[in-house]
Amino acid sequence: MKIAFLAAGGQRFDVEAHPGATLMEIATGAGVPGITGECGGSMACGTCHCKLTDESYVLVGPPGDDEASMLEFSETEPTETSRLSCQVALTEAHDGLVVHVPPWS
Ligand code: FES
Repeated sequence: MKIAFLAAGGQRFDVEAHPGATLMEIATGAGVPGITGECGGSMACGTCHCKLTDESYVLVGPPGDDEASMLEFSETEPTETSRLSCQVALTEAHDGLVVHVPPWS
C-alpha cells in the first residue's frame, strides 16, 4: 500500500508501506523531511507531528488523551486533524492516506 507525505514547499513523497508499521517509521525510513521521530515512538518528543487530510483523519481517528497532550508541546501548532505519526499503526484500511508534514504551508 502507498502513503503520500506532502512536505513543506510542495514536495510529495509516495512511500510504500506495510500493515503494522507506524506512519513515523515509514516517513523516517523514506527520509521524509520534517518528521524525525527523535524519541523512537515513545510519545516523548513531538517531532513526528503530522496533519492528515480530512478524509485520511476519518480513517485514522482522533488521538488519545496522552497523545493530545503531547501534541500541545509540538513545535508546530496542532490542527484539528493533527496526530503524532508514531501513534498511528497502519492497517490495510489506511492505503492511500495523505499526510502533511510541518511546517504547514
Ligand atoms: S516519535 Fe517522539 S513523539 Fe512520536
